[in-house]
Amino acid sequence: MVDTTVVGVCGSLRDASVSRIALRRALDAAADRGAETDLVDLRNLDLPLYDPDHDEPGDAAELTRRVRAADAVVLATPMYHGSYSSPLKTALDYCGFDEFEGKTVGLLAVAGGSFPITALEHLRSVLRALDAWVLPYQAAVPNASSRVSNGEFTDEKLEDRVAQLGDRVVQYANIEPDPHSFESEQNVGGD
Ligand SMILES: Cc1cc2nc3c(=O)[nH]c(=O)nc-3n(C[C@H](O)[C@H](O)[C@H](O)COP(=O)(O)O)c2cc1C
Repeated sequence: MVDTTVVGVCGSLRDASVSRIALRRALDAAADRGAETDLVDLRNLDLPLYDPDHDEPGDAAELTRRVRAADAVVLATPMYHGSYSSPLKTALDYCGFDEFEGKTVGLLAVAGGSFPITALEHLRSVLRALDAWVLPYQAAVPNASSRVSNGEFTDEKLEDRVAQLGDRVVQYANIEPDPHSFESEQNVGGD
């Protein structure tokens, strides 16, 4: 019986996105550990830039419903200007404590260059503000264009690292974190 649901959110809208390829690999590994998986492809959702005066336009309710249903979430982002992408930021702004508090989150970043770490660090800060439980283990795909071909990884070690992320979010999906993060307690506008 499946008792763990893992939702992946892909922060790249690009058709040939390496983030999406890597996210699929992580979700396949989660499925191998017995989880039900759901890949939220932001290309298929109507999510205008977040406006607090209109906080449920388009497909926002669908996004939050799918993230709320997760026991664990994998966030995959392309590295844009040293950080994570604006589509992912918009998606996260539609979410809040209802979607993320106490939830296990795994992070995955993909970069054209050789240093995707800042995107991971920035996402980690955001998820702490939402009181998520972010895995210490994280996965990065540097020099992305040379790491995949025809939608598949060409680098076995890197593929293993990405797959490990999917495995570990299932392993820790039902953890009960305590106490709240300091950042989340100061995050008064965050619900
Ligand atoms: C607007 C923009 C900014 C980018 N900034 C960086 C960057 O700061 N560092 C980097 O290594 N790659 C950067 N890249 C390259 C992307 O990280 C790379 O193309 C990656 O594969 C995109 O992810 P995707 O394949 O999932 O779309 C940038 C690409 C775009 C479109």
